[in-house]
Amino acid sequence: MSNHYSKITGWGMYVPERVLTNHELATMVDTSDEWIVTRTGIRERRIAADDQTTADMSVIAAQRALERAGITGADLDLILLATSTPDHLCPPTSSLLQDRLDAHKAGAMTLVAGCSGFAYGLITAAQFVNTGMCQHVLVVGAEKLSYAVDWTDRNTNILFGDGAGAVIVSQSDQPGGLQSMVLGSDGSQADALIVPGIGSASTLTPEALERKDHKLRMDGQRVFKFATRVMTDSVLKVVGDAGLTIHDIDLIIPHQANERIIDLAMRRLGVDRDKMMINLDRYGNTSAASIPLALCEALDTGRVQPGDRLVMVAFGAGLTNAACVWELQTEEAQGEPILVTDWPVSDTFQQRLQEMRVAAWRAQAQARVRVSDATMAVMIPFYTFRKGVKKRLSGK
Ligand code: UT7
Repeated sequence: MSNHYSKITGWGMYVPERVLTNHELATMVDTSDEWIVTRTGIRERRIAADDQTTADMSVIAAQRALERAGITGADLDLILLATSTPDHLCPPTSSLLQDRLDAHKAGAMTLVAGCSGFAYGLITAAQFVNTGMCQHVLVVGAEKLSYAVDWTDRNTNILFGDGAGAVIVSQSDQPGGLQSMVLGSDGSQADALIVPGIGSASTLTPEALERKDHKLRMDGQRVFKFATRVMTDSVLKVVGDAGLTIHDIDLIIPHQANERIIDLAMRRLGVDRDKMMINLDRYGNTSAASIPLALCEALDTGRVQPGDRLVMVAFGAGLTNAACVWELQTEEAQGEPILVTDWPVSDTFQQRLQEMRVAAWRAQAQARVRVSDATMAVMIPFYTFRKGVKKRLSGK
């Protein structure tokens, strides 16, 4: 058994100054603040300056994280940069970041896993740290999605924003850090969220440019369906695998894509809203930057404290998904152990009780998911049918 544990010792975020509100978007495409807020929960997002790149934003977030951890770029052993909007297809943006941080001994990788990229990166960082191979790993999620969005497409332009968030994962001898994980991918749904025209599968001809093949295309409803399923399934799995129930979790940090996706997951899991970190109203969906931005805000505002247990859960292009339970160590000792009862009973008995508690919670949540699936299987065709009838009657 390894004596190395992963600890988040520093964090930092950056969002561009320019705020793009729903009202402003409504002057650009046929939409409204009311539609965007009710369908997504988003009110505004940040947009990078024309000459500001993903690497530029990553550098600022990373420098803030390094400063908080009390180390410099020279102390880093590894840099993992998650992004779907790199500065260039080649070289990797992670190398640009490594250079600008003077991280001369660090390896650098750019990780492309859509909006799940940061969670993939954090889980990967923990493997390097827990095996004792790395002392300090920088994990960054950063995106300049405003570059990839087709500003005439209301299906996508209302959702996305720019930003960067970073954490330093350092070696610690105090138990904590990564407790359980899920990494998933369903490449059969690759076309649900795709930039079709950039890469070796395509040639960027004038016709392709005309079709805007270099811009992001999304089948929103397919992604929505995937998201609601994996959000619940993966939280159930990571929490149960960590030997916990949702009641032992202090905060869930979901990918900030759509408040309706988060609400549905909340109802299925049986958790209260105050257990969910939500900041998409201010930043929109920043893809790989979404979880680190929310994590940084939760840490900065004291919403989570040392000793707390977090769940991070993401889904995105691929389609991919990732989730983990992460315990934030205190300076001195690990978070409070879960005590099922105050009676003076043996550890084995405590453990059995906890296992029963976890099994009961999982069964309850799975039953709620089955009821919710059955309701949706009836209601969605009904609403679609009713919408069709209304449209035919109104002659639109
Ligand atoms: O990180 C992963 C990234 N992606 C996601 O997480 C996306 C997941 N999907 C979603 O969040 C939702 O599917 C959207 C927010 C993208 C769309 O919401 P929806 O409730 O699925 O809307 P819809 O596509 O079913 O469209 C409903 C109606 C349509 O009109 P009709 O056919 O009912 O007349 C659309 O044309 O709303 C219309 N519509 C809009 N109206 C005003 C679609 N986009 C807009 C818009 N403003 N921006």
